[in-house]
Amino acid sequence: MNIRCETSSDYPKIAEVITAAFGQSNEAKLVEAIRDSENYIPQLSLVAEIDGNIVGHILFSYIHLISKEILPVLALAPVAISPQFQNQGIGTALIKYGLEKADELGEALVIVLGHPSFYSRFGFVQSTYYGIKSPFEVPAEAFMVKPLKNYEIKYTGEVVYSKAFNL
Ligand SMILES: CC(C)(COP(=O)(O)OP(=O)(O)OC[C@H]1O[C@@H](n2cnc3c(N)ncnc32)[C@H](O)[C@@H]1OP(=O)(O)O)[C@@H](O)C(=O)NCCC(=O)NCCS
Repeated sequence: MNIRCETSSDYPKIAEVITAAFGQSNEAKLVEAIRDSENYIPQLSLVAEIDGNIVGHILFSYIHLISKEILPVLALAPVAISPQFQNQGIGTALIKYGLEKADELGEALVIVLGHPSFYSRFGFVQSTYYGIKSPFEVPAEAFMVKPLKNYEIKYTGEVVYSKAFNL
């Protein structure tokens, strides 16, 4: 398996993988909307390929934390693996690789909404432990954060998702 940044020629195949993984096109549309926005980070839109075929994709993009100041943080969403390649460690590899890249880029914090049993293995913990509040009603344990090397105590407050997430 190889992990690399996406290129524009990958877009149709990525949309296919995401749509197959989620069984609907909303998440693929989210990725397209983020690509068209100032919150897109090309280095953090990654594909996993096997024998040259894209089998997985992950995207980290900018959202914000409203504290005393407005702080940029990352949303991990979506991550998708082609159904026939799920449960073979590819999602885990993409998430780990992406988190390392985010750290190298100097980002401070990653936010994810998902299953605690899955994301806790990467160091995500319930956001309320860090004084970080979800902008919508969700089970507290599903709204998680992972502080990176550049995390500082000032990263508290309420999360505001970018407009792309309203689609
Ligand atoms: C969730 C997903 C990204 C995981 O990637 P993967 O390559 O299948 O997973 P890995 O092989 O790396 O890891 C396997 C673990 O993920 C768990 N897992 C698989 N699908 C899951 C899901 N939809 N939600 C939570 N955990 C899931 C498995 O139970 C397994 O846990 P275990 O190690 O405790 O047994 C992938 O299954 C997928 O694309 N699912 C459909 C889309 C989706 O739900 N995306 C995530 C939104 S938060």
